[in-house]
Amino acid sequence: MRDCIILIGFMGAGKTSVGQALASLKQLPLLDTDQMIEQEAGMTISKIFAGQGEAAFRAAEAAVLRRLLDEEGSAVISTGGGLPLDEGNQATLRQLGDVVFLRVKPETVLMRLEGDTTRPLLQGDDAEKKVHSLLAFRNPIYQSAADVAVDVDGRTVGGLAEEITRRIAEVQR
Ligand code: S3P
Repeated sequence: MRDCIILIGFMGAGKTSVGQALASLKQLPLLDTDQMIEQEAGMTISKIFAGQGEAAFRAAEAAVLRRLLDEEGSAVISTGGGLPLDEGNQATLRQLGDVVFLRVKPETVLMRLEGDTTRPLLQGDDAEKKVHSLLAFRNPIYQSAADVAVDVDGRTVGGLAEEITRRIAEVQR
C-alpha cells in the first residue's frame, strides 16, 4: 500500500474512532493493526501478552505492518499505541503514507480508559502514574515519527477528520 493516512498516538487518543470518520470522509477502507493481529492470532491482545509476552506481540505488530507494504491500494490505517516506538516500524510508516499524530492529554486518556481491561500496559495499580510516564517517554517519539500532529482533547471525531484532511493537503503542497 502507498498514499495511506496512518494514525499514531497513545491508547485512548481516538485512533480507531477518528480513523472511521476519516475513512468515510476520504472513501477509503479502514485497517486497524491491533485487529489484524487479533484476527491472525485468533485471540485478544490481552491473551497474547499474557501467554506469549509483549515481545511476541511486538514481533506480530512489525510483521503485520511490513505486510501492508506489499498490498495494493491505499487506506486509513489505525495503529496500536506502541507501534511507532520501533525504528523499523517508523521507516515502514513513512513508506506507507502520511503519518498523523493524535496528541492527547493524560487526563483525557484516564477519563476515556477508566475501567478498561483490554490494555495490558495499563492494568494493575496506579494507572495514572503509568499513563503519565508512558506519555512523557512516547510523545517526543510520536512527534518525530509524524508528518502532522493534531490535539484531540475536547474535539469531535468529524472535526478532527476534516482538520487532518486539510493539514495533510498543506504538507503535501
Ligand atoms: C499498546 C496499545 C494498544 C495495543 C497494545 C499495546 C501500547 O493499542 O496495541 O495494548 O503499547 O500503547 P491502542 O493504542 O489501540 O489502545
